[in-house]
Amino acid sequence: MKFFIDTANLAQIAEANDLGVLDGVTTNPSLMMKEGISGRDNVLKHYVDICNIVDGPVSAEVISVDFAGMVKEGEQLAALHHNIVVKVPMTKDGIKAIKYFSSKGIKTNCTLVFSAGQALLAAKAGATFLSPFIGRVDDSCWDGIELISQIRLIYDNYGFNTEILAASIRTPMHIVKCAEAGADIATCPLSSILGLLKHPLTDIGLEQFIADYKKVEG
Ligand code: G3P
Repeated sequence: MKFFIDTANLAQIAEANDLGVLDGVTTNPSLMMKEGISGRDNVLKHYVDICNIVDGPVSAEVISVDFAGMVKEGEQLAALHHNIVVKVPMTKDGIKAIKYFSSKGIKTNCTLVFSAGQALLAAKAGATFLSPFIGRVDDSCWDGIELISQIRLIYDNYGFNTEILAASIRTPMHIVKCAEAGADIATCPLSSILGLLKHPLTDIGLEQFIADYKKVEG
């Protein structure tokens, strides 16, 4: 299972990268806003800064909602760095744009996915990655993990290569459940990745080992 970090915060991206387990980065306009990144030039520079930290796919989202705008913007984003993946929303124009980018060899991440039907369409259009928002599915009183299982089954039934990139992850347990359900990737906040480290018995055990070592060695 690959781990992406879901943030535009450079310090957090560097911290996750230093752990040695980071495979990529996802961003979105809300995450860019959270870091105070505004203005087209600054946004583009920020994507390059991220690419200079992590050697893996970096999703950069288009903000156009029409096909022509998505194509123009996506081509500009893809030209920034070879690791850029163009993030495209799950809409009619978005599906057309994903098909276009796929035919040009430009990698895509189909975002704002909330149903298996949407996942099927994105795979048929040739999306490289698919982002089901499992936390937001849970927020709507549906089952985000069940959605991952359903998409896994469909993709395996037909041999689709689109990678399932579980997004809107809120907890370490979400990551574990996504791994059980067969997601290819989890894109997570740093807190959820670090949360995987935690177990009180690890802390208690380590404290005991160090104490015993000191008793013998002085
Ligand atoms: O990857 C999508 C993510 O950024 C959305 O997360 O917590 O706003 O649903 P959230």
